[in-house]
Amino acid sequence: MRYPRELIEEIRMQNDIVEIISQYVPLKQKGNSYFGLCPFHHERTPSFSVNSEKQFYYCFGCGASGNVYSFLMEMENYDFKEAVQALAERVHITLPKEELSGQALAMEQLKARLFEMHKLAGRFYYDTLQSEAGSYAKKYIGKRKIQQNVARKFGIGYASNQRQTLYDYLTQKGFSVEDMQKGGLVLPNKDGSGYHDRFRNRLMFPIFDAQARVVGFGGRILADGEPKYLNSPETPIFSKSRNLYGLHLAKASKRKEWILVEGYMDMISVYQAGFHNVVASLGTAFNADHAMTLKKYAEDVILLYDSDEAGTNAALRAIPVLVEHGFGVRVTQVPDGKDPDAFIKQYGNVAFSKLLVDAVHYISFEIACIKRNYNLDIPEHRVRFATEAAKILSGMESEIERNVYTAEVSRMTGVEESAIQTEIQKLQQKADTAYWKEAERKRIQKQKAYIAQDIEEKGVIDAQKNLLYLAANQRAVYDALQPILQTQDFPTTVYQKAWGYIGILWKQHDTVFPAELLNFFETTQEQQRIGEVFAAQPPTDTQFDLQKAVNEAVKVLKRAYIEKMSTQVKTAEEIQDLVEQKRNLDKLHITI
Ligand code: GTP
Ligand code: MN
Repeated sequence: MRYPRELIEEIRMQNDIVEIISQYVPLKQKGNSYFGLCPFHHERTPSFSVNSEKQFYYCFGCGASGNVYSFLMEMENYDFKEAVQALAERVHITLPKEELSGQALAMEQLKARLFEMHKLAGRFYYDTLQSEAGSYAKKYIGKRKIQQNVARKFGIGYASNQRQTLYDYLTQKGFSVEDMQKGGLVLPNKDGSGYHDRFRNRLMFPIFDAQARVVGFGGRILADGEPKYLNSPETPIFSKSRNLYGLHLAKASKRKEWILVEGYMDMISVYQAGFHNVVASLGTAFNADHAMTLKKYAEDVILLYDSDEAGTNAALRAIPVLVEHGFGVRVTQVPDGKDPDAFIKQYGNVAFSKLLVDAVHYISFEIACIKRNYNLDIPEHRVRFATEAAKILSGMESEIERNVYTAEVSRMTGVEESAIQTEIQKLQQKADTAYWKEAERKRIQKQKAYIAQDIEEKGVIDAQKNLLYLAANQRAVYDALQPILQTQDFPTTVYQKAWGYIGILWKQHDTVFPAELLNFFETTQEQQRIGEVFAAQPPTDTQFDLQKAVNEAVKVLKRAYIEKMSTQVKTAEEIQDLVEQKRNLDKLHITI
């Protein structure tokens, strides 16, 4: 649903951009502007400016710019609607409820009830842990060396061994048994006589989503027994192939390289050791959905799976998923088949941080893994190992790295480096041919699409930006241009839209405030492009000839349009018409 534009503007006005940005970036005042270190790129000297009068930010270093919504979208990975919702909440403005269709509405309402139910269940388990009934579980937490403050932060609780305490509690809170079952917290008795709690006599780990809402639980058995971990089933609010354990905490770390571990306890231990950029997949193979979730926050990944066979195989399967989604991937393993949790407990944080430093390029890890399948004392095995390693190496982009690993494989096998290199080249040529074929196919496809689409070149881009800037700045410019410029004169869709919106704002408000204009654009890309138009400093030159600038820009656009049409005309009349347009253009003079 779209919120009314007036409301969006009202919310924007009530949320001062300086206040909002100050929550993320320390700012220093200089007149109307505030300066700080840009949160969107690395820098040592501040080039990030926030203008309180314009309610706009602009980075002279990386060009990031926009209003308070764009800032939150970039900073928090919100979409436009989420940014509006967050800022509305901050200033206590109630947004109209979405009008959903019957079925969608019912689903939204069910989800809302499940969120509430899980929040209460989490608290219930937490309170049980603090009670007499939780004393044994509390000792267990101590034994696992989870610090009290960390246990609290993760909301760890305890499900008692009573048959239906949670069921009773949730009933008393007014939840229906259908909802409890849909949330996976309660199961029907086999004999049909009633219901019982899914989790009993287990240490309870609440699973949070990115917005820090409890969406499910993992329950660990306190003694030996099966299953060791019992997880919530798939529900409308929880999916083990999408949710990542610890995400709500890790996302605060702002690090670009994240550590990926296998288990709840590993995640908690690593976090407790001071490495907050860590998440765990929930007892399921790392898949494309996980990767997409992770991609919102991280650029690179250190895989830290158990060093047993299962963990190694899981890492080998996770690598291609991560690489395909554009992550830089390094791998590290704890020695002696331990898991990260056990390693940290035994050797401490410093030894652990060394493991992270020692993480190797994933290719190196893959080679080490296939090496285990061969006995390098046997000549035949050496050759086969070298051939298989060449296959992996051929996928490596950096030539320097490739050479290093080629030399390494050569050393391991005694197969000449040059022989391995020849093999790599053969494989690369094969891959290249396939790649070029595919690229050529895509190029042709694109070309076809382009003909119909915007053809953008710098002069035309600049002309559009100048006109938008000037027309938003002065009503007289807009009024002079309005009868002359048609939407088609703006070949770039986003600028074309902006032209229309500038007209609306002049007519409705008799003013065009760039920060308000930006409200019309809901994607980061569009906001960025419009932000650029206004981030540009107005000409300081007093000789600046407004009229000349406007005329020049209009001619650039009109000429480009005529040019574009001239490649598409078919009839003599159309040609005549273009010639006519061209002649008019030469005579055109706009006075402001
Ligand atoms: P601790 O023994 O408590 O240290 O757990 P761990 O994290 O070392 O467990 P393990 O390495 O055996 O398993 C890794 C992850 O797989 C766990 O954190 C769970 O998410 C999941 N897992 C382990 N055992 C089970 C199980 O029996 N059932 C399910 N569904 N998941 C499990
Ligand atoms: Mn463990």
